[in-house]
Amino acid sequence: MGTFTKILVASVCVCFLAVKWTAPAFDAESLRGARVLVTGASSGIGEQMAYHYARFGAKIVITARREKVLEQVVEKCRTLGAQVALYVAADMSSESEPQKVVDFALEKLGGLDYLVVNHIGLTRVGMWDGNVQHIRWLMQANFFSYVQMAWRALDSLERNKGSLIIVSSVAGGLATIPFVAPYIATKHALNGFFGSLYHELSMKKSNVSITICTLGLIDTQTAMVNVGHLTSIPAYPATDAALNIITAGATRQPELYYPWFTFLVNIMKDWSTTATDYVLQNSFKEIP
Ligand SMILES: *[C@@H]1O[C@H](CO)[C@@H](O)[C@H](O)[C@H]1NC(C)=O
Repeated sequence: MGTFTKILVASVCVCFLAVKWTAPAFDAESLRGARVLVTGASSGIGEQMAYHYARFGAKIVITARREKVLEQVVEKCRTLGAQVALYVAADMSSESEPQKVVDFALEKLGGLDYLVVNHIGLTRVGMWDGNVQHIRWLMQANFFSYVQMAWRALDSLERNKGSLIIVSSVAGGLATIPFVAPYIATKHALNGFFGSLYHELSMKKSNVSITICTLGLIDTQTAMVNVGHLTSIPAYPATDAALNIITAGATRQPELYYPWFTFLVNIMKDWSTTATDYVLQNSFKEIP
């Protein structure tokens, strides 16, 4: 490693730690009675977020497509200590349902303090097959629905000094990953849109904070079944990812990187495209 690279790596680490240490401390009490809507909450990270919010005594509405599963998650949230736990089944690939979910939460909870948008539509892992229709569908599920929900909730979040938490991926920043091109496109759209909205809200001194979460590989069932066998990247626990998202949102941080090295992957491309290509292309064990 050249001296310049060493200095660069060291400065990046120092910056990262400085940001970590100066972040405001998380006060779990601040979530007692907080009105929260979590999407994609029937499994994976969304489900774990619902349980954490429940333990903190929040009032939660969860959504996903499968009513039977949502019923069980809500039941568990109640036993864990949620002040209110309700569900509404909805399909985010529909053009009309995202708004209805927000309206349901606003009505049942009397407003919103946190909108946590986390759901994704399923996509095939493999070489792109030319299917544009699938990308349109996935854009609605993974991107347009986020925008629709954010707009619908914004007034209430503004009044309540609330937070918008966008769950994105390491694939939403500079990094691109092969074999999931439609998914990558939707995540880039998310980061682009909400990164821009972040500036707008910040410049008009809005009450609303936006937290964009950059996640690496998480050990959810969906991720493990679809890509677990293809990659040597370590998978991190969903429950820990969920807690990190919640604390980043509650402390109004603009960004979360989880696990920490997703931060490096994101800035790596600026130093060396060759190195980035090597790392990303070699994180796949085979061509799916
Ligand atoms: C911002 O939040 C405060 C409460 O902290 C509230 O009084 C004020 O009306 C809010 N601003 C807007 C534009 O809703």
